[in-house]
Amino acid sequence: MRKINTYKLPASGEARERLREKGQFWTPDWIAEAMVDYVLANRDSMLFDPAVGAGAFFRAAKAVARERGLHITLSGMDVDPTALEQAIQYGLKNDDISGVKIGDFVFQPPQTKLHAIVANPPYIRHHRIPITIKEQLKHLGLQTIGRMLDGRAGLHIYFLIRALTLLDEGGRLAFIMPADTCEGKFANYLWQWISTNFTLDAVITFTPDASPFPGIDTNPLIFLIRKAEPKEKFLWVKCSESQTEILKMWVRSGFEITPEKGLTIVQRELSEGLSTGLSRLPVIERTSRCTLGNFVQVVRGVATGANEFFFMTYEQTKLLGIPDNYFVRAIGRTRDVQAEEITQDTLDSLQAKGRPTFLLALNGDPIESYPEKLRDYLKEGEALGLPQRPLISQRKPWYKMESRIPPTFLFSYLGRRNSRFIRNTARVIPLTGFLCIYPKNNDKEYIERLWKILNHPDTTANLVLIGKSYGDGAVKVEPRSLEKLPIPESLIEQSGIPIQMRLL
Ligand SMILES: C[S@@+](CC[C@H](N)C(=O)[O-])C[C@H]1O[C@@H](n2cnc3c(N)ncnc32)[C@H](O)[C@@H]1O
Repeated sequence: MRKINTYKLPASGEARERLREKGQFWTPDWIAEAMVDYVLANRDSMLFDPAVGAGAFFRAAKAVARERGLHITLSGMDVDPTALEQAIQYGLKNDDISGVKIGDFVFQPPQTKLHAIVANPPYIRHHRIPITIKEQLKHLGLQTIGRMLDGRAGLHIYFLIRALTLLDEGGRLAFIMPADTCEGKFANYLWQWISTNFTLDAVITFTPDASPFPGIDTNPLIFLIRKAEPKEKFLWVKCSESQTEILKMWVRSGFEITPEKGLTIVQRELSEGLSTGLSRLPVIERTSRCTLGNFVQVVRGVATGANEFFFMTYEQTKLLGIPDNYFVRAIGRTRDVQAEEITQDTLDSLQAKGRPTFLLALNGDPIESYPEKLRDYLKEGEALGLPQRPLISQRKPWYKMESRIPPTFLFSYLGRRNSRFIRNTARVIPLTGFLCIYPKNNDKEYIERLWKILNHPDTTANLVLIGKSYGDGAVKVEPRSLEKLPIPESLIEQSGIPIQMRLL
């Protein structure tokens, strides 16, 4: 099997940040060719890419057309003319890009119906989109799918909606999108509309090792959709080998071949796929009637609004001369907890490494009542403009810290290492990288038994059912979703937690 070459993404953080602003991440050839193969469907066609960029899909289309003896024309749009200069550098001819219009696809779309649309739309998260544009996007949602979508829908979602409305009868669309397309708050309405107006042929997902965008913090999925009567079933694929032709060959076979390795293919009921979430594995049977919320309450960690001011190292506290009793021990980064338990030793070793573990936890008494050194420090904070910062400005007085009882367990919910539960033996206060887990019963034995359930692999395996997925297999879980984590009933039985303590 031929290995398909791919060019590297820029490595520096600064360059990546610039690309993030414009949503410019180029699609690798092995992905682009598979997507183009689907939309061309072995016909002479005009291929349309609404976000041409450096032309990955145009190059792929030329390659596929050559391989299959097709006559194709290329057309598309992009807001950024400099991206097209890169397209030439990457080997396209001026003729190839002569059908590209510089303009905004969402607000100035083509006026004709299209038969083959392929895209890696700009992934610009909602908080980078100006408010006025966001309002216009919401109206587009209302006009096309009959609903205003939740404000967290990014530009890529409206690219998909706009492109689907432009599909001619029988036309095909292949989009590579981040997993929030089917995990976001807006996903239900979006997919209700798609699934009642189009055929979802396939959803392609990737193992972290085979990600089309290695090192980028998103979990990408490919959607293959046709303008045709909806079907009850669709194919769900997990691709576990990158840079090979397996995916393209599978698409080219009309999804008929079953590759020996590299792809796991499952036929799923559309209704099941939509209720489980298209980014997730099929749920063969509902795992349990019991959820974590039966046993615990979940609260997010402390948001300081300015960690650099409120969260300090031991040396900083000494240098400032603020008395110890104004601090609580806290933990800020998930990386700071490597083990499954936070003990006094963990804190000592973080302190020795110069990591912050002291949170300035003031209760909101008047400034004048504090010792001089603390007063001086707060004045410094005022001079830095901290009281005007968004989160801090909501606190009265501005230096009053959110308070938490030290939770029995923490949940580390976003990190390169897998999401996991941590036992908080040192009774620290977690910041926002963690969730606080409070058992509903403080009986010692209950807590021991609960701990066995929490760190059992069968429990953590269920996290994908309720979390949002990012790159490298990381899963982010909000407090309310974590309470919905299914706890396998067999584990509850084994744990020996008495029936009356299960709080069902
Ligand atoms: C993720 S890149 C994909 C480029 C290319 N198709 C690929 O897959 O390698 C998205 C492209 O969309 C362009 N873009 C951003 N906003 C746009 C808009 N409103 N209309 C059209 N293009 C846009 C960006 O300039 C960028 O080149």
